[in-house]
Amino acid sequence: MKPARPAVSRRAAPLSGRITAPGDKSVSHRAIILGGLAHGRTTVTGLLEGADILATADAMRALGATVTRTDPGAWTVDGVGAAGLRSPEGEIDCGNAGTGVRLIMGAAAGYALSATFTGDASLRSRPMNRVLDPLRLMGAKADAAQGGRLPCTIRSDGAPAPIDYSPPKASAQVKSCVLLAGLRAAGRTTVREIRPTRDHTEDMLAAFGVPVRREGSAVSLDGPADLRATHVEVPGDPSSAAFAVVAGLIVPGSDLVVAGVMLNPRRTALFDALAAMGADLSFENDRTVGGGARVADIHVRHSRLAGIVVDPDRAADMIDEYPVLAVAASVATGPTVMDGIHELRVKESDRIAATVALLRGNGVRVDEREDGLTVHGLGPRLSRDAGTVPGGGTVATRHDHRIAMSALVLGLVAQAPVAVDDAAMVDTSYPDFFDHMRTLGAEIG
Ligand code: S3P
Repeated sequence: MKPARPAVSRRAAPLSGRITAPGDKSVSHRAIILGGLAHGRTTVTGLLEGADILATADAMRALGATVTRTDPGAWTVDGVGAAGLRSPEGEIDCGNAGTGVRLIMGAAAGYALSATFTGDASLRSRPMNRVLDPLRLMGAKADAAQGGRLPCTIRSDGAPAPIDYSPPKASAQVKSCVLLAGLRAAGRTTVREIRPTRDHTEDMLAAFGVPVRREGSAVSLDGPADLRATHVEVPGDPSSAAFAVVAGLIVPGSDLVVAGVMLNPRRTALFDALAAMGADLSFENDRTVGGGARVADIHVRHSRLAGIVVDPDRAADMIDEYPVLAVAASVATGPTVMDGIHELRVKESDRIAATVALLRGNGVRVDEREDGLTVHGLGPRLSRDAGTVPGGGTVATRHDHRIAMSALVLGLVAQAPVAVDDAAMVDTSYPDFFDHMRTLGAEIG
């Protein structure tokens, strides 16, 4: 386990300048995993080199793929192709990465192998039955620790059965796990979603030459299907861009640009919610990058925000952004109501409880519900010398990168500095976070 790295942020002068969003975490995981299954050499540019992705690269190596870093952000993946994935020598440690372990267990279940998966304390506390249940229906044997937790051993005979599966929760990880196992099943594998979730797996499977049918809420593919290596250009991560975007909106006088942010509609609900609160965001230089992703540079200017009722129907499209939205809500005028987000309780931490503690510990009033929270905004900080959020707290980050970064963004508007007990986990999704925030003028470190 990494040693704890405390950090602190304090009231900042106006933030300004330009940063480029780091590579998208979801797309980066999938580039390594699909590349690892494919026939031939996949090339990747803009890969997020966060700890989560490095763990996925190690996992795919252990299963037989050759994954090589050639330059910063530039990687090659020589897929196993016809040889298929093989049983690894030891346990596969996926670190903090729920996406990594859930997608790789699905991919592994398609081949004749036995593999044991584990992770850090946070990942070992997260529910895995959501993927083990469908994998068992497909014929895999899966032994997990008590409560369907990691470590978990997957044993497959390499002949998964195609299934028609309706996950009880909206989850891109579950959908992706089933589709990846379905690649090796003889026949049609279908996932029916209760709400649409991010569609990067479907898009990327198509780029690797496997057509995915989308009809209403159903996504299906016909197996067995071979992946052909391709080139993946990873667009900037909207979930990481969210931190500088919110910082720019709440620190008075700020005017900054976060460049290269992916605008996939299944990922941009935070920006819509902020716009509804009165955020001055403009999407400039809207373009399509290689691989077909739409990206833009987000121009952010400090704004007077007003509380809103966040649309629960968009929850899946901003599922990772609620903690930082709650930070924005703390300086809005009036309450911001967030409901339908029970899934936050089983993320890297219980993010409802962690966000409530983050805000209360810094003097913001919050109501907590089983599936949501209401933040009672204190109103905007109108000048550098008058902050409305008292601050002064030390936030327990609970092995959760997004809680750490959200707390440090709050410190930029609070009267007293905001500390976190451990910011080491920031490396999982955004290793350049501190550099980027300092580039924009934040006092953070
Ligand atoms: C992800 C899906 C989401 C999200 C996670 C990344 C993905 O999880 O929270 O950070 O890349 O598929 P769920 O599928 O559990 O909602």
